[in-house]
Order: sequence, then structure tokens, then C-alpha cells
Amino acid sequence: MGDRIDVAEATRAKHETAAVFDRGAATYDRTGVEFFGPMGRELVRRVGLRPGQQVLDVGCGRGAVLLPAAQAVGPTGGVVGIDLAPTMVDLTRADVATAGLAHVRVDVADAEDPPLPEATFDAVLAGLVVFLLPAPLDALRAYRRLLRPTGRIGVTTFAAHDPRFNDALTALARHLPPERRQPPNKGKPEHFATRESTGELLRRAGYHQVTIDDVPFESRFRDIDHFVAWAWSHGARAILERIPPDRLPAALADAAHALSPTGESLQLTTSVRFAIGSRAES
Ligand SMILES: C[S@@+](CC[C@H](N)C(=O)[O-])C[C@H]1O[C@@H](n2cnc3c(N)ncnc32)[C@H](O)[C@@H]1O
Repeated sequence: MGDRIDVAEATRAKHETAAVFDRGAATYDRTGVEFFGPMGRELVRRVGLRPGQQVLDVGCGRGAVLLPAAQAVGPTGGVVGIDLAPTMVDLTRADVATAGLAHVRVDVADAEDPPLPEATFDAVLAGLVVFLLPAPLDALRAYRRLLRPTGRIGVTTFAAHDPRFNDALTALARHLPPERRQPPNKGKPEHFATRESTGELLRRAGYHQVTIDDVPFESRFRDIDHFVAWAWSHGARAILERIPPDRLPAALADAAHALSPTGESLQLTTSVRFAIGSRAES
């Protein structure tokens, strides 16, 4: 059985999530913080792409996975990136053109059921996106249909945020008026709660030889303004946008205190979960 969802609510939440990323697209992964880039490169490395292969990158954002994948498969291969946020797609398409990557295509499309031909990809990569989807099990099943018989899936999720990052988000959330406390996308967090549940999800979607590894990544910020610019550029924007503008300075001051009570340099450790699997049994 797939994910049971309220389709109308799921569709609304999905588009609201993509709209938040769309508004952050100009600075997403472009604030000078080492975060999505190293995570994307590590996903590509773990999936083990070879020159000439065909790759689909779902929820491609500004190319943290797409660009290293394009380098790994080379001009004899091909990469298709899809994202539901049109500004992400426009900007990434422009970066791809500037880099002269003629073997890469970027389109606006829904990662829940990519409108692409079956059995055409050697790898489907999903960097930090499946937990945003209302029906991740159905999405993973759809990716399996797109894979060639020898194809592989590579998915990342957040295993654990730095406790200080969580404290900062809690500090921000205290400034939300009650009617704005509901997050725009409830998702299916139970699927990704543990290494076991994540592995089980991939196996239920039909994947074999599933491996799960949690890897820590360090990110440094020059100062609190650097942190705030970074927070506006990605999913944390969903909280910042819902704080009334007149409460924002106090909210950011509280977040700064939660992040760095003594004002020492800001550094966060984020644990990312890498889930890799194969379409075929052996
Ligand atoms: C956290 S970002 C990850 C981007 C990129 N994979 C990376 O590792 O930096 C999530 C991305 O998924 C996109 N997204 C969210 N929901 C989507 C959906 N239903 N279909 C396609 N893309 C979606 C967002 O627009 C955003 O670019």
C-alpha cells in the first residue's frame, strides 16, 4: 500500500513548499556557507556514477547534486534535473549554460511523479527533497520505474540538525502568532525518523542492497548576519516569512543568542543520512 494522503491538502502543501524555495532561489546555496555543496558531492560519490551514464536529479535546486553528477557522467552521458520551483530551474539552467554543459537539461516538474520515460536512467538522485513530499513512498516507487534494470537510487535526508540550529528555530518559532504556527508542509516525518525506518521505506519501494550511512558535515558562519542570510536562502525561510516584520528583529536576536550564547564563532554540525539502493536484487 502507498502513502495515504488528503490529495487536495497535499497538493496545496507541495506548491506552498516549492513557493518558499522559489522565493529563496536567488541565494539558495549561494551565501558562501559550505552546506549543500559537500552533501551533494558526497551523494554523487556514493552512488558511483560512470562516464556515459544517464542520471535523473529530482528536486535539483541550484545544482548541488546535478553539477557533480554532470561532471561524473561527462559529455557522453546525460543528466536531467527537475524542480517544482521555476526560479530554481531558470537560475540552474543559466548556470548550466554558462558552464557549457550541453549534456544537462533542467525542467520544471514534480518530484512526486516525474513525467519521464520508464527504464531510462542508470541512477536517480534525490538530495534533501523526499521528506518534503506528501507521499514519499509513492515517489520512490515512481523513481524505481524510471531506472534501468541495473540502476541505482541515492537519497539524502537530514539525520540530525545541530542542537543549536534546532534551538535557533525554536527561538524563532516563539515569535510566530498562534494562527501562523502550523508549518506549510506536514510531510511524512515518520518515514525518515530513524536509519531503520529510512531503510524500510526504500525496501518497501522495491529497492535491494539498501545501505544507510549517517555522515556529519561542518558549516561555519562569519557572524550572525551570515547565518541569517543563509537561513533566508533555504527551508528555514518558511518560518522567517511567517514572523510579522515588526517582530523579526527581536526574533533574530533570540535566534542569535540560542546559536551562540557567548557570541563565539558560529559553527554547526549537520548529520546527513545517505540511503543507497539498487533496482535489481543482485
Ligand atoms: C532542500 S532543497 C535541495 C536542493 C538540492 N537537491 C540540493 O541538494 O541542494 C529542496 C528542493 O526541492 C524542491 N522541491 C520541493 N518540492 C518539490 C516537488 N514536489 N517537486 C520537485 N521539486 C521540489 C525545492 O524547490 C528545492 O529546490
